[in-house]
Amino acid sequence: MTVGVGDRSRDELTNSDRRRQIVFASGIEALAESAAERLLARIAQGGNRAAICLTGGTSPERLYRRLAESPYRGAIPWDRVHWFIGDERFVPAHDTRNNMGAARRLFLDHVGVPAGNIHPVATDATNPDAAARLYEAELKRFYGHDELDRAKPLFDLVLMGLGRDGHTASLFPGSPALDERVRWVVGVEQAGLAPFVPRVTLTFPALASTHEMLFLISGEDKHEVLARALSGDDLPASRAHSDGDLVWLIDRAVGLKELDASA
Ligand code: 6PG
Repeated sequence: MTVGVGDRSRDELTNSDRRRQIVFASGIEALAESAAERLLARIAQGGNRAAICLTGGTSPERLYRRLAESPYRGAIPWDRVHWFIGDERFVPAHDTRNNMGAARRLFLDHVGVPAGNIHPVATDATNPDAAARLYEAELKRFYGHDELDRAKPLFDLVLMGLGRDGHTASLFPGSPALDERVRWVVGVEQAGLAPFVPRVTLTFPALASTHEMLFLISGEDKHEVLARALSGDDLPASRAHSDGDLVWLIDRAVGLKELDASA
């Protein structure tokens, strides 16, 4: 684990260093700002077409609102960025629990994104597995190949959250989806944490195919699970890896004083 703050930790990394980098932010606003800067930088590096994989839950909400405000609204080249979702709750698109629906309400619907640049999971499919297969086919079409090449990541940035039980995306503790190595997207009939609706989730290999994986971790209720993850417990979130950089962006309010002091 690489522990550091802001630029200093980035400088310390070499290209071959794929360990987890920890960056602290002081409060929700600073966390959103730092994530928005990283997103903007990844889009800038993305060339003609950038692909961002969003996450659900409450942790990214401030970031999403921030993207629809100045300076990000004017700085993001909306017509050349494509938006995907790392996991979806299997509820209709207009249901308030739908993750892409939340991203739309918080920013995508307010900034003039071309409709074809938003890639939702088809939650009107027959069942989560059918929706997963459709989404996998869409990802493959976008990528242009059926096999992931580590030298050519699918995404520029993948956002991730940390659940109180250690899950990330909809990869819950004990789920067979944790061991999936072939499929890019799978259906999950039973969620381990609320909302208890079936899910559709990208698998670890698909999520890893990115220039940067960025965890957004905030909320005092994350203290215990974060301490477990950082002490090496085998949680789904700890298994998440990236072919590019792996960054855990943590709000200091989560309360890891011991770690903060050593950074
Ligand atoms: C979901 C997620 C999930 C989430 C974590 C953290 O659909 O629920 O994508 O993996 O990121 O549960 O959620 P919070 O940010 O709400 O704590």
